[in-house]
Amino acid sequence: MSVQKPVRRITVPQIAARKGGEPIVSLTSYHAHTAAIVDKHADFILVGDSLGMVMHGMDSTLGVTVEMMITHGRAVMRGSQRALVVVDMPFGSYEESPAVAFRNAARIIQETGCGAVKLEGGARMAETIRFLTERGIPVMAHIGLTPQSSNVLGGFKTQGRDTDSWPLHEADARDVAEAGAFAMVLEGMVEPLAARITKQVAIPTIGIGASAECDGQILVLEDMLGLNPKPPKFVKVYGDLGGRIEQAVSEYAGEVRSRAFPTDDQTYR
Ligand code: KIV
Repeated sequence: MSVQKPVRRITVPQIAARKGGEPIVSLTSYHAHTAAIVDKHADFILVGDSLGMVMHGMDSTLGVTVEMMITHGRAVMRGSQRALVVVDMPFGSYEESPAVAFRNAARIIQETGCGAVKLEGGARMAETIRFLTERGIPVMAHIGLTPQSSNVLGGFKTQGRDTDSWPLHEADARDVAEAGAFAMVLEGMVEPLAARITKQVAIPTIGIGASAECDGQILVLEDMLGLNPKPPKFVKVYGDLGGRIEQAVSEYAGEVRSRAFPTDDQTYR
């Protein structure tokens, strides 16, 4: 009789150890069925606050709550078994003070069972990152284009177009790494800056609209599947899920309306 070994999840130290090694594969997921598929291929799954737009039709991530992140985080944990699951801390849940950040991060970890949280911001968040990591909460940082600050940044603008701004972004990267983040997302950043930061820091960089030289990449699943009618320009769209769903729904509607619905295998006897 063969006894099946339980699958062990990829850990935070295993991701951190991938600096400069085998590229880290990651995608977002917000629900159990997509998590089960992504789990077979990704090293970590991000329950991103982009779920506000993708799942809930919001204009930005600013209205996302801790409760929403917990609901979707639990679904992704149930659907996956292998990948590290990282849950985003939403706007307003961590900026006020390290103590508030700890309370909300601890709640997210306790109520979802996820392995780490992610929060946006560079040098200004270093104190909070240190506070959390010293108290047992692994933190993934997120610098460059930080969508939760879009009102301050004046929209979703690629960062680092002006080389004068590079030292600030480099300081952000250095500060979050020194504060104890185990990896950092570099979003919407000009390619040479993202490549420089990747060389400068000792923790893995995860690019999105940044550089192929990052230690790993992440995309929003619905963007790369062709479910978002207006994906960001940098996204390679690998499928036409929107078209496939439309085709299937239209076929089903036609069958119901023309009384060709396959009753034999679609009804209980
Ligand atoms: O919320 C999200 O999906 C993210 C990724 C874009 C990195 O933060």
